[in-house]
Amino acid sequence: MTNFDSCKVAITGASGSLGRALLQALAQQGASLVALTSSREPLLLQDSAGTAIPLEQVCWQCGQEQELRQLLERVDILVLNHGINQQQLRSASAMSLALEVNALSSWRLLELFAEVVQQNPRPQRPKPEVWINTSEAEIQPALSPLYELSKRLLGSLVSLRSLDLAGARGPLRIRRLVLGPFRSRLNPIGVMGPKFVANQVIAQARLGIGLIIVTPNPLTYVLMPLNTLARWGYFKLMTRPSPGQL
Ligand SMILES: NC(=O)c1ccc[n+]([C@@H]2O[C@H](COP(=O)([O-])OP(=O)(O)OC[C@H]3O[C@@H](n4cnc5c(N)ncnc54)[C@H](OP(=O)(O)O)[C@@H]3O)[C@@H](O)[C@H]2O)c1
Repeated sequence: MTNFDSCKVAITGASGSLGRALLQALAQQGASLVALTSSREPLLLQDSAGTAIPLEQVCWQCGQEQELRQLLERVDILVLNHGINQQQLRSASAMSLALEVNALSSWRLLELFAEVVQQNPRPQRPKPEVWINTSEAEIQPALSPLYELSKRLLGSLVSLRSLDLAGARGPLRIRRLVLGPFRSRLNPIGVMGPKFVANQVIAQARLGIGLIIVTPNPLTYVLMPLNTLARWGYFKLMTRPSPGQL
């Protein structure tokens, strides 16, 4: 069972609903926390007893992933959780923002963390992990085409790159978070609460589950594993590793 005690966990989208809930839940598990946020506002969180939760707040912007290189050397678990949902939009600039925030910045952070881990081996510590929040929108309609397109791209990138970055020989352990609708700024009418979702994510991660699903939709529990398996098989069959490169 994964133990978060004294583990350093960095979370993007830290000031959002799930970001805060994950930070609070991980604090209870004894993790040491880094809040990665694009906001300049100080992030003040309290535990259930009203005591301030100690955390290191680091500002970053999409496109400036390389600036997090030194920080990532100290991180055991990187949670890629930032996201944007521009419902009803379809302009080129909205598409570009959705792809950048929801897919490409997470992909770049995944690659950067893998590179950092390879350059700084940690033989005495558990394998570093990346948790990637792709969403149920990877395989189901989310009433937001740009959101679906960008989350599907992220899901496919994760499946393809996991062939080299994860597994027995890869430098990382990758967990995919496939979440159903929960209440937040991104989805004010979500049916689940962010605290419930965060606790479920952590409970499943503690059990060692790699495909973490939290949703009231029973179809996702059937379709998501099938989709992931099919994509894994297709990508493995159609691609080869590049010698000497990750
Ligand atoms: N709510 C749902 O129903 C649902 C369902 C499935 C998956 N998800 C996923 O869960 C994750 C968390 O979302 P949430 O529901 O908690 O929404 P949220 O409260 O809106 O949080 C999203 C956070 O992402 C960060 N972000 C937004 N735009 C950004 C940008 N341009 N550059 C960098 N960071 C940006 C912001 O955090 P900072 O200000 O701290 O940077 C923002 O608070 C997202 O990836 C979302 O796609 C949500």
